[in-house]
Amino acid sequence: MAFLLVSAYLLLTRSHSAPVENGALMETLKSQVLLLSNKSEHYSTQVRPPGTSRRIPQTIIIGVRKGGTRALLEMLDVHPNIVVAATEVHFFDWDENYVKGIEWYRSLMPFSYENQITIEKTPGYFTSPQAPERIHDMNSSIKLLLILRDPTERVISDYTQVYYNRLESHKPVQLFEDIVIKNGALNTKYKAIQRSLYDIHMERWLKHFHLDQIHIVDGNTLIKDPLPELQKVERFLNLPSRIMSSNFYFNQTKGFYCIRSDGRERCLHESKGRPHPIVNSTVLEQLYSYFREHNAKFYRMIKHSFDWH
Ligand code: A3P
Repeated sequence: MAFLLVSAYLLLTRSHSAPVENGALMETLKSQVLLLSNKSEHYSTQVRPPGTSRRIPQTIIIGVRKGGTRALLEMLDVHPNIVVAATEVHFFDWDENYVKGIEWYRSLMPFSYENQITIEKTPGYFTSPQAPERIHDMNSSIKLLLILRDPTERVISDYTQVYYNRLESHKPVQLFEDIVIKNGALNTKYKAIQRSLYDIHMERWLKHFHLDQIHIVDGNTLIKDPLPELQKVERFLNLPSRIMSSNFYFNQTKGFYCIRSDGRERCLHESKGRPHPIVNSTVLEQLYSYFREHNAKFYRMIKHSFDWH
């Protein structure tokens, strides 16, 4: 069974015609393979290992989309006191899932021991109007992780993901500049731009949570040097320091750090870390200047600044 699932998954990941991010079959297979390959082998079985149960997450990675959420989750999974939900659950941002209730949510979590923290990641939560209040209703003292990167880079990454998804499903694609500029001005209605207005989204979260409940991971740093960012997360979660530099190695071909744990080496899926288009410099300047004020407001809000453009 495990062999069949892994083979089907590998076939799909190697086939350029398979939709990478949104294909339902792909996602299902991916999660099955993740379940089978999880550090705790027992996740592969439906039988509850003695002493474990499925727990509501004590920590959620709330976003941001294209911030590096998958890398953060997989790198944290190296920690023996962390177990992660294999798929994006979309419980708090999709009404059709939210109405299924908290037991449905719990049923999607992996088995964990009492000394382990369950982490779920759904990047759509950060920009969802409903998610903050719903998460607060579930657990008002929850610890949240938010990974952010330069807002302009995030827009380009968001565009690149949609571009490839459209190519793979044989839909027409547009140049970045043709989407971002409309009638000579910045198209601020473009969803990818709206998602990068971190101050606007953060304001909603801070209506429900104290700032010290939200730990912000620097997505740009996680790419260049993952360990220090992960050690900050360990401290935020009050976990012993267990993630080591030996858990990572730089893969020249991929151009990113990959993960080494339990005697296995693995890089993130090929849809993570794809080359970005070269963007016209005037358009880049327009984006930088549009985000500048929003970034400044965001820095004041979180009492910390980043070296974004
Ligand atoms: P790009 O594909 O645009 O480079 P998310 O998982 O939230 O969708 O974020 C995807 C981004 O994670 C990638 O965006 C990539 O830059 C970043 N990332 C961070 N660390 C990575 C790693 N070790 N391997 C691959 N991508 C990584």
